[in-house]
Amino acid sequence: MSELSLDLSNMTADGDSGAGITEDGLERLLPRLREAHATLWRESDEGTLGFMKLPGADTAPVAELAGEVVERGCEDFVVLGIGGSSLGARALTEALLHPSWNHRTLQQRGGRPRVFVMENIDPRSFSALLETIDLKRAVFNVVSKSGRTAETVSQLLIVKELLEGEVGSEWAQHIVITTDPERGPLREIAGVHSIASLPVPPDVGGRFSALSPVGLFPAAVAGIDVGGVKRGASEMDAYCRDGDMARNIASALVSYYLGSYELGKKITVLMPYSDRLRAFGQWFAQLWAESLGKRRNGECVGLTPALALGATDQHSQLQLYLDGPDDKTVTFLKVDDHGHKLGIPPSLRHDEFSFLYGSTLNELLRAEYEATREALRRNGRSSVTITLSSVCPETLGALMYLYEVVAVLMGYMLDINPFDQPAVEEGKKIARGILEGEVSLEPQTARKIECVLG
Ligand code: PA5
Repeated sequence: MSELSLDLSNMTADGDSGAGITEDGLERLLPRLREAHATLWRESDEGTLGFMKLPGADTAPVAELAGEVVERGCEDFVVLGIGGSSLGARALTEALLHPSWNHRTLQQRGGRPRVFVMENIDPRSFSALLETIDLKRAVFNVVSKSGRTAETVSQLLIVKELLEGEVGSEWAQHIVITTDPERGPLREIAGVHSIASLPVPPDVGGRFSALSPVGLFPAAVAGIDVGGVKRGASEMDAYCRDGDMARNIASALVSYYLGSYELGKKITVLMPYSDRLRAFGQWFAQLWAESLGKRRNGECVGLTPALALGATDQHSQLQLYLDGPDDKTVTFLKVDDHGHKLGIPPSLRHDEFSFLYGSTLNELLRAEYEATREALRRNGRSSVTITLSSVCPETLGALMYLYEVVAVLMGYMLDINPFDQPAVEEGKKIARGILEGEVSLEPQTARKIECVLG
């Protein structure tokens, strides 16, 4: 049995310097919170929120196509996508596959391929990847809801040429397209060239698509239990529907984030104490930034995501969190069972190290988390902790779904639309205009400073 729990004990700051959220403040949020909940569940029941239908969606076509890819002997599976079209797959695979998955043998991977999520278009990294893999045994999953994102389409164009050179007319068998079921250039291309494809539900936006074929297909190819991921999300859906606001995990988180935001804490630090959740943090950052950074009647609102990793960032960012401006909330993600226990042997026999002898890295990591939480409390900085019994398909699915619900509720409470991304679209248009020569940029040379080196 797996579990996910929320600890709010340090939500209201009671340290020396701190003015945190008060019980009164939380009480004042309640009517708005109830209203936001009512709107969310009404829309969900009316079927207008696509992401809420995903935990119950049929994933048989995903499993079938994933099985075919593996059976065909695919050794390298490469996701080509960006933003909402890549971060879900990255979060799922990095959390749920062996940390050295791509360095393991085919046999150790149970006959499943290495997995690469190639979101950026850095020419050096992309060339290096293409040189590393065996194109004859590779499958490229091109993921783009719109089917026209410049970065992803460019990657496809490069890959198609290379594949054609390598396998001739069979190039299309090395591609799987995940895109809108009816519209967009990639859908047309899939039809014209008989390329295998999967749908991104039209009512599901990029950052809410992790539990659709966008995230689940790469996961299934790698052998991840996608049923478990969906089950976790579905069970979390039930918890988030709890009408008792004091018991509802989503509303507790919303109270913490919104109450803090209204006290000027506009930065949301997510700090997992597990390497496996680092990519989840990047997924969260997109969800938070794109859903909540908006204009509201001319006013700019939003919560800025910041990522830290425990214990690593105790040695880099923690100083700022403790002594810097009191403009942040910290959410710890703690994992009880890391799946491995590593003892610290009493070697080198030195008095200085004796406190470590006989303990484990697991205990040390836990103590580091407890110390950080306590140091924040003593400095009047509030925090919340989400504990996962282990990182498994169920807890990850539940965590993703929980944050999707929280992001939407936050958007409703802030009176903004959490589902659009006009600024991202504007950036895409400008980039296209630059390449087409239709956008000329303001000259900025007046502020240019050059340093000639060597
Ligand atoms: O969340 C979003 O909408 C964006 O981050 C998109 O996912 C991203 O821009 C990629 O778009 P597309 O899937 O259309 O290629």
